[in-house]
Amino acid sequence: SIATMAATIFAASAGSALADCDKGEIVIKFSHVVAATGHPKGDAATLLADRVNKEMNSKACMEVFPNSTLYDDDKVMEALLLGDVQLAAPSLSKFEAYTLKYRVFDLPFMFSKQAAFDKFTTGPKGKELLGAAAANGYQGLGYWFSGLKQFSAKKPLNVPSDANGMKFRVQTSDVAVAMIEAMGASAQKLAFKEVYGALQTGVVDGQENTWSNIYTQKFFEVQDGITETNHQVLAYLLVTSKEWLDGLPDDVRAQFLKIADEVTQTANAEVGKKETANRQNIINAGGVVREMTPAQRKTWVDTMKPVWSKFEADIGADLIEAAVSSND
Ligand code: LMR
Repeated sequence: SIATMAATIFAASAGSALADCDKGEIVIKFSHVVAATGHPKGDAATLLADRVNKEMNSKACMEVFPNSTLYDDDKVMEALLLGDVQLAAPSLSKFEAYTLKYRVFDLPFMFSKQAAFDKFTTGPKGKELLGAAAANGYQGLGYWFSGLKQFSAKKPLNVPSDANGMKFRVQTSDVAVAMIEAMGASAQKLAFKEVYGALQTGVVDGQENTWSNIYTQKFFEVQDGITETNHQVLAYLLVTSKEWLDGLPDDVRAQFLKIADEVTQTANAEVGKKETANRQNIINAGGVVREMTPAQRKTWVDTMKPVWSKFEADIGADLIEAAVSSND
């Protein structure tokens, strides 16, 4: 029967991270698109749920839905406003419909390492940007770093011109499109859950992502290799609806925000370790990783630099300047 089927599906998902919510507890549903474990975001979401369920027992109850099982990153933004979920963490590249300021995070070679990203996001500009989509009803609670991005493709990529004529999957970001076009390649925006299939069937020839996504989604299995370009950050906004947050009892809101803040710091401190491990996991599983010589690296930087001026007006020169100086 349909009831039995529903019960089976429910029981299956209960095995992962579905908490037993008691009557009267505020239910916090968190939907995301990556692997449940072994990934900076998957692990951060689990840690957040574990802490909420332990420390806020009887007041709140959190359930995590990983792997695009509930929504993709476009749909989850609507679901937040409808109150179907209360938390999400889409990448900053996916906020173009709500703010153009986050384009600063997408500029190629903007942040040379996580420390620069952390310095910018914990500084005054970063804090201000948590509310960049407030007019649309969203409130950012923190930035979750995920790593630097690498290119993978069906043919060896050593310099950008090797990508001539190829098609790359990108996130829903015009900065990414401009970057791919600067390489003489074409870009196609696709939801994350579509990427593996698109690579496998040849709908696209390549993609760009972190070691953790390339490993946990098995992209390396359907690509020739991965080029270690470190060309852009992948980071998320832990985001909720303002209406939901404002509607929480004061003590519940304060406790929840404190836990979210602590989890953000703990999770961000673990990213480097997870990324290094997943890079090695790819190699151990037979994936090819191509390191760049300084001369090859320079060709990537030079090819992508013109992208900056295209988006300067949207972002604001002051913001770009602050982000650049976080590398010092
Ligand atoms: C992507 O769409 O490639 C990433 O934003 C997925 C993710 O959440 O890491």
